[in-house]
Amino acid sequence: MHTINKKSIKKAWSQAIAQPGVEFPRSELPILFGKIPEGLRGTLYRNGPARLERGNTHVGHWFDGDGAILAVNFTDAGASGVYRYVQTPGYQEEAKAGKLLYGNYGMTAPGPIWNQWRKPIKNVANTSVLALPDKLLALWEGDRPYALDLENIETLGLDDLGGLDRGLAYSAHPKVDYQTREIFNFGLSPGLNATLNIYKSDFTGKIRQKAQVSLEGVPLIHDFVLAGQYLVFFAPAVRLNILPVLFGASTYGDSLKWHPEVGTQILVFDRENLSLVSRGQTEPWFQWHFANGYVDASGTVIVDIARYQDFQTNQYLREVATGETHTAAKSTLTRVHLRPDTGKVTAIQELVDRHCEFPGVPQQNVGKASRYTYMSTFRPESDISQEILNAIARFDHQTETFTSADLGANRYCSEPIHIQDGQNQAQSWLVTVVYDGNSDSSEVWVFDSDRLDDTPVCKLGLPSVIPPGFHGTWKPD
Ligand SMILES: [Fe+2]
Repeated sequence: MHTINKKSIKKAWSQAIAQPGVEFPRSELPILFGKIPEGLRGTLYRNGPARLERGNTHVGHWFDGDGAILAVNFTDAGASGVYRYVQTPGYQEEAKAGKLLYGNYGMTAPGPIWNQWRKPIKNVANTSVLALPDKLLALWEGDRPYALDLENIETLGLDDLGGLDRGLAYSAHPKVDYQTREIFNFGLSPGLNATLNIYKSDFTGKIRQKAQVSLEGVPLIHDFVLAGQYLVFFAPAVRLNILPVLFGASTYGDSLKWHPEVGTQILVFDRENLSLVSRGQTEPWFQWHFANGYVDASGTVIVDIARYQDFQTNQYLREVATGETHTAAKSTLTRVHLRPDTGKVTAIQELVDRHCEFPGVPQQNVGKASRYTYMSTFRPESDISQEILNAIARFDHQTETFTSADLGANRYCSEPIHIQDGQNQAQSWLVTVVYDGNSDSSEVWVFDSDRLDDTPVCKLGLPSVIPPGFHGTWKPD
C-alpha cells in the first residue's frame, strides 16, 4: 500500500477561511494609520463567500460559500462598517438544521440520493454587488439577485428587476455606463445548448430591453465587456457536460471540461438594439474576467482580459476552499483586437507578464479607452501554486509601466476598487480590504492611485476577519 506524504503547506491566508466570517452591526472603524481623504465620501460594498463549512462538512469549491456583504461608509465624521450574510432561504434553512443541505457549483447535495433533485443548488448570492439608487443587489450568476437595504444590509428578498422571469439568471458582472445611465448584463440558461440572455436596464435597475441567442453546447461565460457601441462576449474553450449534472452524478465544477478544439467563440452585439452583429472564433483560452473594452480610431474593438492558457484555475479555486493549494494557474493582462463586423480577431497581445486577476478601470472609463487598468496580482517572490492574491497593481497603458503596492508578508488583498475623488478631478484612490495573517485581522487600506509604491494614506480596522472575497463596488454620496 502506498502512502502519499503530501507535505502540508498551509499559508497564512488559510486562517482567513478557517472559520466562517463573523457578522458585525454598524460599527465605528478605528483609524489605524493616516487619515481619511476629504474627497472620499460614499460607501464601499464588497461580497464574497464567507462560510465554507457547516456542521463539520466542508463545501466542495470556493464558489460554494454563503455570501456576506461588507459595507464601509466614509463620512465627515469618520468611517463605519457593517458586515452581514445574505439571508437567502437556503442559508436560513441550513442555519436552522445546523448542516449543509444543498448542492452547489462544486458539490452535490449531501444526504440521500433524491436530494440531488430536491435540493440541487442553493443561490449563495456571493459573487458581487450592484448598488442601485434605492437598493443593493447581491449577485450570483446562476439565479436572480437578492435585494438588500443599502444602509443596514438587511436582506429584502429575490429581485426580478421588473423583467426576470423565474429561472432566468442575472450574472455577477453587470456593466454600468455612468454617462448614459444604462446597465447591461446577461444570464446563461443551460440546456443541451445554452441560451445567452441579454438585458438592458435603466439606472434604477429596471429591465427595459431583452434579447437572446442560442449557443453551441454550454460554455462557461462569467463576464463580458462593454466596448463603445458593442457588447462583446468571449465564450472560452470550456463546455459543461450537462447530463451527469442533471442526473445528480456530478457537480457543475467537475463537469466543466477544457475543450481546446472548440476554440474561443466570439459574439458581438449592438448595445442599442441588442442585436447580434457578428460571431467569430479564435484560439482557445480561458478568462473569468474582462478589464475593459473600447473602439479605437480605426473601428477596431479592443478588449483587455485576464487570460489563462487553460482551465487549471478551476482546480486552483477548488483547492482554495481547503485552505491549501497546489495548482498553479497564471493569467496575464492580454489585449485582443477584433473586427466588430466579422468577429474576426486580428491580434492578441500580452500586455504585461505578471499575474492579473480582478482587473478593472475607473467607473467613468467603462466602455472607453482608459489609460490605467487596476488589478490584483502576486508579490514577485510568491509561489503562485500555494498563495492567494497578495498585491494590487496599476498598469499604465501609455508608458507601459506596472506599479504594484507591497502589502508586506502574509497580507492578502481584495479586488482593488478605484474611487474618483469627489473634490479633485485629478485625484483618485484605490481601496482594498486586507487580511493580515500576522495578526489574524482585517483592515481597509486606502492608497493614492498614483502612489501605489508608497505607504497607504489611510488604514482602518475592522471588527472581525473578512474572508477573502470576490467583487465589490463604490457608491459615491
Ligand atoms: Fe467575477
